[in-house]
Amino acid sequence: MENKFIDSHAHLDDERFNKDREDVINALNENGIEAVLDPGADLNSSKLAVALADRYPFIYAAVGCHPHDSKFMNDDAMNTFRQLAKNKKVVGIGEIGLDYFYDNSDRETQKIWFREQIRLAKELDLPYIVHDRDAHEDVFRIMKEEHYDGTRGILHCYSSSVEMAKEFVKLGFYISLGGPVTFKKSKTPKLVAKEIPLDKLLIETDSPYLTPEPFRGKRNEPKYVRYVAEEIARIKEVPVEVIAENTRENFKKLFKL
Ligand code: NI
Repeated sequence: MENKFIDSHAHLDDERFNKDREDVINALNENGIEAVLDPGADLNSSKLAVALADRYPFIYAAVGCHPHDSKFMNDDAMNTFRQLAKNKKVVGIGEIGLDYFYDNSDRETQKIWFREQIRLAKELDLPYIVHDRDAHEDVFRIMKEEHYDGTRGILHCYSSSVEMAKEFVKLGFYISLGGPVTFKKSKTPKLVAKEIPLDKLLIETDSPYLTPEPFRGKRNEPKYVRYVAEEIARIKEVPVEVIAENTRENFKKLFKL
């Protein structure tokens, strides 16, 4: 039987899918993909993600502003996210967080809108999806300070240590691994795959970015999530079906599907 995977993070709204988006989406099921979550990166991409979720039963959306674009955020945008989140196919707030690698928005601005969007997740009782690049300490501190009963969500394309991963799990979060776990030189994600229990793991592509081996360099697509699952299966010494099934169940539990 075909393994059915859920890709917990793919930007199908991204312009790199403009030429063949329908073909990619229509082939998802035959490529073994049961469902995909498309997280917003800004106001426009959040709207596009919601439109895709409205159109396809197996696509879900999150709405929010990526730290890169937090310099463009304002209260009007927050209200639009609030309105968009009324749609039943919007299952989370994201992706939100901090990115100190690119610093596309200044760090104080990133922190302000990370906090505000966590509060929006709390107000709407939705999980939130966290982007953390080279900002582990501040991400963890803000999440701890903003922690509330019912906090839950995903650390997407997790890149920090095993110890931190365990702390995020304690805060109510799932750890999602992507393409980097398949890269020979990236040791930490492999350790995380080994140490974090299966009931706390998710898999993702972050399409169109971070393409796993053996397709590194090409545009990423949800169908390649299989290679992420296969690497985790190899590390955990279990059949890939076990990874597929557990990550599907975790996804459905988190988003109450
Ligand atoms: Ni992303």
